[in-house]
Amino acid sequence: MSTLMSPSKEGSSSNHDLETKAEHEGLALNETRITPIKRSGRRKLLVITGAVVVVLALALGLGLGLGLKKTSNSSYVTTNSSFLLDPNFVVTSTPTTRYYEFVISEAVGSPDGFQRPMLVVNNQFPGPLVEVNSGDELVVNVFNQLSNGTTIHWHGQLQNGTNYMDGTNGITQCPIPPGMNFTYRFTINPNQYGTFWYHAHASTQYTDGIYGPLIIHSPSEPIYGQYDREALVILSDWYHVMSSGLLTQYLSAAGIDGSNYGGVNPGAEPPPDSGLINGKMNGSSMDLQPNLRYRLRLINMGTMTEFMFSVDSHVLSVVEADGTSLAPVNVHRVPIHVAQRYSVILTTNQTTGSYNVRAEMRSTCYKLSNPNLNTMVLATMTYGASPSTPNTQDWSDAIPSLCLDLNSTMVVPQIAMNPPNSTETVQIAMSFQQTTQSGGTQTLAFMNNTSWLADSTNPTLLQMSKVGIQTVFDSNQFVIVNNNITVVDLILNNYDDSSHPFHLHGHVFWIIGEGGGSYMSGVSQLNMINPPRRDTLTLPGYGWVAIRFITDNPGLWAFHCHIGWHMAAGMLMQFASLPSQIQQLQIPSYLSNQCAQQSGGLRMMMYVERLNVKTVERKSD
Ligand code: C2O
Ligand code: CU
Repeated sequence: MSTLMSPSKEGSSSNHDLETKAEHEGLALNETRITPIKRSGRRKLLVITGAVVVVLALALGLGLGLGLKKTSNSSYVTTNSSFLLDPNFVVTSTPTTRYYEFVISEAVGSPDGFQRPMLVVNNQFPGPLVEVNSGDELVVNVFNQLSNGTTIHWHGQLQNGTNYMDGTNGITQCPIPPGMNFTYRFTINPNQYGTFWYHAHASTQYTDGIYGPLIIHSPSEPIYGQYDREALVILSDWYHVMSSGLLTQYLSAAGIDGSNYGGVNPGAEPPPDSGLINGKMNGSSMDLQPNLRYRLRLINMGTMTEFMFSVDSHVLSVVEADGTSLAPVNVHRVPIHVAQRYSVILTTNQTTGSYNVRAEMRSTCYKLSNPNLNTMVLATMTYGASPSTPNTQDWSDAIPSLCLDLNSTMVVPQIAMNPPNSTETVQIAMSFQQTTQSGGTQTLAFMNNTSWLADSTNPTLLQMSKVGIQTVFDSNQFVIVNNNITVVDLILNNYDDSSHPFHLHGHVFWIIGEGGGSYMSGVSQLNMINPPRRDTLTLPGYGWVAIRFITDNPGLWAFHCHIGWHMAAGMLMQFASLPSQIQQLQIPSYLSNQCAQQSGGLRMMMYVERLNVKTVERKSD
């Protein structure tokens, strides 16, 4: 593992180390405030229209040229095969500070045998393991060697008091400009533990490989000590071309090139070319020891695919969902949607030998099918023998046809918690709509009447940190502001036939209800007795979910579908909690400096994905 543990870096005077530099120069927060860029939505659209030709050229360059151009001098990606966690990692409640350096760059790799340009962390795929204890301070210095801006988000971290370290483009920061760095520094919540991950949070960049595991240990985790060893099982779907090109096609009036997928389908997502387990297709091998209890930490780092995970002949005991320890429940298969995590305990007590590990891609939930996609992704698990090609059988239980979460009756938190009564109800309608523009129509995603567009030069957090409750957001930002600590019931109705994995930043929510059709007040069943708690849940096709959370965490928090294509099409809204406390946040000066440094060219690149938008529906106030 080439992750650098480099405490000495902190005091270095390297001009890369912005945080240190800013501190040494004593830059006070207010001295480096950038002038707010006040542009009306209409004006921005004109700018975009005017730049269409330039942007188109850029888009083509991004989609087609970049990889080819760079291939010859790019380095080759190393597959990160260290799937076993170090059993000697000291799990303690005494906090420490842990330092990592991430270099984000383009490199060439072939995770499924097909060589392509990728975007990677430290030249590794999946990215390096970040391993901490609850309460530790985590410092990750991210160097951006890409030709585009990027950000890194720490999925599931509460970031209480450090919303500006959430790493969300257009919400909590501007993209880290090419050639520059950003120091993420925050304290892991002392009450948070379990299986998490990090990923790029700018456009669809993470689809190209910028992701890795973040594991938080704690002696107070209820399931701590109930297993002998731990292993990572990272699932992801994979494409043969850069996501930027696919995104441009997906958001174009005609939709993606349907020649391989049985025709033209505006609004249909590009189906992946393959699936990976720990960064490899059908090649990962897990060498275990007999008669031990393994905690497998499943993480779906994919872009649009729900996986069905299983191991032949081995019952899995599910003990964690998204950082919440569960009352153990035995299953043959675990459905896991994008961005979700589960821990399952597998005991190596069957006949010694090799077994199939299966991650079946739920391609029935794609709008388009890819005839070349092999949906059964395999790895080999071996114990007590030398590895051989397994000829073990899949479980025979039928796989449900819908792409849904593990039934919520099976997701019972070990530490029981009934939610407090709600003080506010928010009803959200999620839909895809065709928007008209001069050149035709385009399908975008809407949360109520707003299709989100990232403002990569003026993130909503910076806006609100300046004027607090007075903030007037752009028409393409749907922000629900809570001035006081509120217990929110968020009812989300799905007017689309597909299921969508929704994630709320900075919170763990209760899932108090879900069902088919639309939510009906007083009729739809709600569960107030120790409901599931997690950070990502699947909204069923043409169905509804109700989640409850407390707005006690100051900041701007994204709530979005984690399917990369959908977020880029606008399926994102925000909660702004406690504006007066947001004004008190100690936002590092380099964050606003990087916003001031967004060049015209860079700004346009972030708009590539939405170049056809000429009218965006306004949200009703
Ligand atoms: Cu995995 Cu918006 O995040
Ligand atoms: Cu979605």
